Amino acid sequence: MIPLMKNTFLNEYETKKELVDFIMKAKILSMGEKCLEFEKAFAKAQGRKHCILFNSGGSANLALLQALKNLGRLKDGDKVGFSALTWSTNVMPILQLGMKAVPVDCDPKTLNSMSANLAETLKTEKLSAFFITNALGLAGDLGEIRELCKKNGIILIEDNCESLGTVLPGGRTGNFGQASTFSFFVAHHMSTIEGGCCCTDDDELDEMLRVTRANGWDRNLPFAAQRRLREKYGVKSEFEAKYTFYDLGFNLRPTEITGFLGLTQLRYLDANCETRQKNFRLLEAEVKNNPDLIPLETGHLSFVSNFAFTVVCKTKELRSKYIEQFSGDGVEIRPVIAGNMQRQPFYAKYVGKKFDLKGAEFLHECGFYFGNYPELTDSDLDMLKSCLRKY
Ligand SMILES: Cc1ncc(COP(=O)(O)O)c(C=O)c1O
Repeated sequence: MIPLMKNTFLNEYETKKELVDFIMKAKILSMGEKCLEFEKAFAKAQGRKHCILFNSGGSANLALLQALKNLGRLKDGDKVGFSALTWSTNVMPILQLGMKAVPVDCDPKTLNSMSANLAETLKTEKLSAFFITNALGLAGDLGEIRELCKKNGIILIEDNCESLGTVLPGGRTGNFGQASTFSFFVAHHMSTIEGGCCCTDDDELDEMLRVTRANGWDRNLPFAAQRRLREKYGVKSEFEAKYTFYDLGFNLRPTEITGFLGLTQLRYLDANCETRQKNFRLLEAEVKNNPDLIPLETGHLSFVSNFAFTVVCKTKELRSKYIEQFSGDGVEIRPVIAGNMQRQPFYAKYVGKKFDLKGAEFLHECGFYFGNYPELTDSDLDMLKSCLRKY
């Protein structure tokens, strides 16, 4: 059996031991110093000014859109583009927060929305923002997408929950837009069990994300920002300030356990991504030799940080055959994320307008994935390679 993942953590045994010790010694386990320490470390590793830690990647997505609304950069009824191939909680907050979701098709060869796909959407739709997903360890031509957004006055934000560590010649995925989100759920590149974050270089957005993360209050802001808010709203005492709520928020806070685990996992992240890329290249070579399958294009990427290897078959019938082959050999597989999002029941319920999305539809019908992680043994890799052969 080759499961989607084998361990909860990178360096599982050591991490669990350290975690037990941390919990036994910690005085406070609600959000505090460890979260702040992790935020600083992750921002540095990612090459961003700010990192705001959340209790999940989905929470980071929700908070990011709410924060942009709180700042008046997005408003009710605005059209927000999203990659048609993505996760449910990338799209749901667009609808939950009163905006209109517009799918941007993807290219089955890169699994991602490319600038050509965005240009196609812009022929008929005026977007206020594009919440692109860097899907499955890969990414689109983000430099060109950024230019296109700039030219059309579109706010670019990235859901980088699936591509932490992937690099283009123009920089790391997650560093192309105003802000980007990450997930630290089990089976992603690093895990804090549940967890996620948002990165940005924008001071105002950083501040608003912290207000949005915790009830709409100012307690997690630096002193100068608190003073500014309190003066603006005539809050006269510390007593009053404790329960003053400045803007729309939720409770999406992580715990100190999240921060602690994040710090341990960061130590192993780079080596871990290297192994994932090595596995990816090994499996990719096998796909290139099989005329039933479509090889993925990664020539525009300088580093592929892949946690789920996607197989794209040439036809639906071939996919059924390969699904049987993989499942029969005990390899755990999944559909290519949510496929064509328009086919999901929640989407059909809340969004009337449908687009003809050939790329996402093709992946919905002809793709599947299996896990790619550092604990795959040589014999696991041999088994996966044999499943990828034409039979
Ligand atoms: C693209 C994308 N966005 C958001 C999420 C949500 O992350 P989480 O499970 O941490 O809420 C996921 C989860 O896998 C994802 O793949």
